[in-house]
Amino acid sequence: MNNKIYLYPVAIRVWHFINAIMIILLIITGVSLQYSDLEYTFIRFDYSVTIHNIAGVILTIDYLLFIIVNIVTGNYRHYRIKFKKYPQKLWKQFYYYSYGIFKGENPPYQITLKRKFNPLQQFSYVLVMYLFLPILVFSGIALLLPEVIPNKIFGYGGIMVADFFHVINGFFATVFLFVHVYFCTIGKNPLSSFRSIINGWHEPNH
Ligand code: HEM
Repeated sequence: MNNKIYLYPVAIRVWHFINAIMIILLIITGVSLQYSDLEYTFIRFDYSVTIHNIAGVILTIDYLLFIIVNIVTGNYRHYRIKFKKYPQKLWKQFYYYSYGIFKGENPPYQITLKRKFNPLQQFSYVLVMYLFLPILVFSGIALLLPEVIPNKIFGYGGIMVADFFHVINGFFATVFLFVHVYFCTIGKNPLSSFRSIINGWHEPNH
C-alpha cells in the first residue's frame, strides 16, 4: 500500500535548499573569518568577506521567502506551539529518542498531514527559524551597514554588541545544523527524510 504523505510543497523545498547551501557557505566563510590572521587564512580573507556578504544577502531574501510561503501555504500552522502539556510532550519524544527507540518502541507521535513535526522537531524548528535566524539576519545587516548601529548599546560599543549576537547565533545555528542532519537520519530508514525534502513525500515508519 502506498501510504506516503505529501508534506513538503515545492516552495518549502526550494526555500530549504537555498537556506541549507547559504548556511553552509556562511559557516565555512564565517569560521575562516573568525580564525584568520595575517600569517594564516583558511580561505583568503577578501574572498571570505565577499562570499559571506553575498550568502548573507541571499539568506535574508530566502528568509523572507520562508515567511511568505508559510503564510500563503498555511505551513505556519506546524510552527504554532500549543502550550498545553507541552513539557510532557517534549519529554515523551526525548524519552523515545534516548531510550524507547533502542528498545524498538514505536514513535510516540506519528507524522500526519495535521501534525508534520514531532514536539522536539517543532521546538527546534521554532527556535532556529523564529529566534536564531532573525537575530543572525538583523545583526548581519547591522554589521554590513555599521552606520546604522548606535555608538553605545547598554554601555558597550554598538558594533561589539552586534558582533556578539552575530557570532553567538552563528554558533547556535551551526550546532542546530549538525543535530538537525543527525535527527533526519532517524526515520523509516536513514535516507528516507532526505528523500522527503527532495521529492516532498514523507514515508511513514509502518
Ligand atoms: C545539509 C543541510 C541540511 C539538510 C541535509 C537538511 C535536511 C532536512 C530534512 C531531511 C528535512 C525534512 C525532515 C524534517 O522535517 O525533519 C528538513 C526540514 C527542515 N529543515 Fe533542514 N536540512 C539542512 C539544513 C537546514 C538548515 C541550515 C536549517 C535552518 C537554519 C534547516 C531547517 C529546516 C526546517 C525548518 C525544516 C522543516 C521545514 C518545513 O517543512 O516547514 N535545515 N531538513
